[in-house]
Amino acid sequence: MTLEIVSTSSWPDHVAGLLADRVAGELDLVVCLPTGSTPLPVYDRLPSALQARGVAVADVTVVALDEFLGLPAGHPARCDEILRRRLLQRLGPAGPRSIGFDVGGLDPDGACAAFDRELGHLGGIDLVVLGLGRNGHVGMNEPGSPPDAPTRAVALAPSTREAAIGYGADPAPTHGVTLGMGAILAAREVWLLATGAAKAEVLGRAMNGPVTSRLPASLLRGHPGLRVLVDDAAAAGLS
Ligand code: GLP
Repeated sequence: MTLEIVSTSSWPDHVAGLLADRVAGELDLVVCLPTGSTPLPVYDRLPSALQARGVAVADVTVVALDEFLGLPAGHPARCDEILRRRLLQRLGPAGPRSIGFDVGGLDPDGACAAFDRELGHLGGIDLVVLGLGRNGHVGMNEPGSPPDAPTRAVALAPSTREAAIGYGADPAPTHGVTLGMGAILAAREVWLLATGAAKAEVLGRAMNGPVTSRLPASLLRGHPGLRVLVDDAAAAGLS
């Protein structure tokens, strides 16, 4: 595992630069990206970071990490809509292709099966980028998710539902679909992002406490390609 602690003010540029460098080194990268509030300042800076390096993203594939159930297509809190608006649209017509969960057209299990089939055709994921839930979830792998948890429909924990209200989904969705812990841990690389004092305690437990399904982010420590990218406020809980 590598741990990088960066000042809050330079964290978004730093992570955007790392992502742009990563794409520059592998132009057909298959990268799974989170939503939530943590990565948004990174996405704001990514187009210019790519441009500064002269990197084309037409051969990149962006894979959605998770999706809420019960929100109509185009709802501003939908993960696919956030990725589209905050990143893909800004990368223009020569942007990456994207794969998400067809939660409108199919039943949740069917959407997960179709998503997995598409991932299978791609040969798996090169890089999974994750935010960190207040309860230690990654994607929507809530506490209790084992390391081999498949891509599936899940019931959302109360704190995840609360967070969804903050993203503009009120009433909050009760369920979602998520890339499973199994596929996350099978990716070649995993980057865990966390910023702000509100994440300090859970990040400390995830990195320094027991490795347990009760705190899914702790399971990432078993991954040889784990990179933890945090700002100094979130790092306050690390020992
Ligand atoms: C949300 C999402 C995750 C996200 C995490 C952290 O509920 N399901 O994909 O990474 O919680 O969210 P935030 O970055 O807003 O703290």
